[in-house]
Amino acid sequence: MATPVSSILQRIAAAGKAYESEELGSRESLIELGRDLVAALEIPSEFLQRSFWAEPALSAHCKFAVQVKLFQHLRDAGETGLSSEELGEKTGVDVVLLQRIMRHLIAMKIVTFSDGKFKRTALSDGLAAENYQKSIDFCYDVTRPTFNGFPAYFKKGEYKLPTSLTDGPFQAAHGTDLAFFPWLVATPPHLDEFGNFMSAYRAGKANWYDPQFYPVEERLINGFDPKNNEVLLVDVGGGRGHDCQLFTNRHSSTSGKVILQDQEEVIASIQDKDKLPFQSQAHDFFTPQPIKGARAYSLHSILHDWNDEEGIKILENLKPALTPGYSRVLLNEIVLSEEHPTLAATSMDMMMLAHFAVRERTEADWKAVIEKAGLKFVKIYNYPGVAESVIEAELSA
Ligand SMILES: C[S@@+](CC[C@H](N)C(=O)[O-])C[C@H]1O[C@@H](n2cnc3c(N)ncnc32)[C@H](O)[C@@H]1O
Repeated sequence: MATPVSSILQRIAAAGKAYESEELGSRESLIELGRDLVAALEIPSEFLQRSFWAEPALSAHCKFAVQVKLFQHLRDAGETGLSSEELGEKTGVDVVLLQRIMRHLIAMKIVTFSDGKFKRTALSDGLAAENYQKSIDFCYDVTRPTFNGFPAYFKKGEYKLPTSLTDGPFQAAHGTDLAFFPWLVATPPHLDEFGNFMSAYRAGKANWYDPQFYPVEERLINGFDPKNNEVLLVDVGGGRGHDCQLFTNRHSSTSGKVILQDQEEVIASIQDKDKLPFQSQAHDFFTPQPIKGARAYSLHSILHDWNDEEGIKILENLKPALTPGYSRVLLNEIVLSEEHPTLAATSMDMMMLAHFAVRERTEADWKAVIEKAGLKFVKIYNYPGVAESVIEAELSA
């Protein structure tokens, strides 16, 4: 039975007060309640119109906006905005076509229109940044075709759960028999877009090393012993180092070294490495961890890319490097709730199904993987409104 609208409105009012007093997670609660309200009010014809016309057209227009630098032109025009003719001149797009696309972007609340001019919003300005532009390319050209292919793929496979890294919905959509990461390495523009996407898709949310999330001071910095190893943190599979950069900014007073590890091609694509506040190293996490006895090893969105067997191999390759009672393993991952799955968690689960034929894990799943790798599960740390938790593990006594 649907939740009565009046009850949702009451909860919105309460969440609004929490938002005004800057309570953690209140912004995300308001958005979720907004969705509850739409779900309670929307009739099927409106649902069809929104989901199958308005939203696909919107994502196509975002890709178009990248092609013609639409959001950048609006950003650069500031509060004055641009007329259809001015925007047409800057983008080279037929004015009538442009007006129609812009109207949809207005209806979808991406830009605004007043005094005869199209105007930027905080959202369109945000999307104008390079990492979001490349994320739009990645989502439109790589992930969306995979999702579009779901029904045909599942039907052909007689509705069995995909389990192969090299023969899943992603391979069917992109006509490849390569697994996702080797395919990215073999298609450098998509590798670059993916690097940007990873730095963008959760930007603006609290990170595990921010205040009130994982207690870095208490669990890592206190008791850090450079005699054991001068490395405080190894970010295993850390991409191009966005976490290492933010961690060192946030904890700049610590003397411990921070080391980034990733595939050779990813490390090679990092520019001006010597100017960065962390070191980097090519390392395949399916081989033994070369840095022994660091205070912590973080694996952010790593194990969720792999099935249990491979995840266990990754942890087993880390295990010999851990110092008993000292080194901590920090898995920064979604812990899927059975009762209240959030959109952030389930959409990531769909990404995993589409591209890796794997799944997001529940708390019981995480404990099982950690224990099968011969490690001890310690604790899960959460932050309101943030999809990924920190699952702390260590060597068993
Ligand atoms: C989902 S991304 C996570 C990146 C980063 N930790 C983050 O959360 O933003 C997975 C990362 O694993 C890296 N990776 C994949 N296979 C690897 C391997 N065998 N050894 C080391 N890194 C690998 C990829 O290059 C990519 O940077």
